[in-house]
Amino acid sequence: MRVLAFNSSPRMKKGVTDKILQTFLAGAESAGADIDMVYLTKKKIKFCSGCFNCWFVHPGKCIHDDDMLEIRQQIKAADIIVFGSPVYFDGFTAQMKVMLDRLISGGMPFIELREGHSRHPSRGKEVKIRKMLLISTCGFGEKDNFEPIIHHMKAIAKNFATGEYMGALVRPVGSALEMMQDKNPEGVQAVLDAFHQAGVEAVTKGSISEELQEAVSAPLISMKEFVKRANVKFHELIAENSSN
Ligand SMILES: Cc1cc2nc3c(=O)[nH]c(=O)nc-3n(C[C@H](O)[C@H](O)[C@H](O)COP(=O)(O)O)c2cc1C
Repeated sequence: MRVLAFNSSPRMKKGVTDKILQTFLAGAESAGADIDMVYLTKKKIKFCSGCFNCWFVHPGKCIHDDDMLEIRQQIKAADIIVFGSPVYFDGFTAQMKVMLDRLISGGMPFIELREGHSRHPSRGKEVKIRKMLLISTCGFGEKDNFEPIIHHMKAIAKNFATGEYMGALVRPVGSALEMMQDKNPEGVQAVLDAFHQAGVEAVTKGSISEELQEAVSAPLISMKEFVKRANVKFHELIAENSSN
């Protein structure tokens, strides 16, 4: 079983996305999976130019010669694809979106009805289904901040002839994983354990229980305390930098 994860945070290894993705992948690896992480920020991926050359001129081949060639091979080989992204303006980061748009060359122009909905068929003849999982974090405290990105993830999985939505592991107030280490170490550990166990379940069961999907989002701080602490920190940071 191959698990391929994309980390689309520009903060890469310094970010919360990395922490939760790595914890999930460690769980998947402990259950016997081959794992791979792609830092999209490090990759050379040009914007889709919308020319449709990959459909009508050189079928399956993009006009851009860049790191998408390798990424498409990695996607082909994967059984589970993890889309790791912080919430940026209620959706995926630009790094993730640029990569997603370039996957258009893997489809064909023809239109078919799948479950009564118009879709493009996949270019490849293979029937292997790849499970698609969202792992995300955000700055605000409410879980509803993930509604648009989850909706988008589900739609993407339906669009792929060979895709299947696997679920979403979302962590509100990502900063709390560090900020609450002193005050609520058990809570932080329980969240990280849930990400790890989700990696195990994804590999051993091919799905992630609702309980684990809930557990990774467990509140680590009250909303009142979060707003207070965050604003104090922001005032401090601004003051620190203005005195330099
Ligand atoms: C450009 C930008 C847009 C953001 N938009 C949102 C948002 O819409 N909602 C939210 O809760 N957090 C938002 N955030 C906060 C990030 O989701 C948060 O800082 C997250 O922890 C970053 O993940 P990382 O540490 O992996 O980079 C935004 C941050 C940036 C830089």
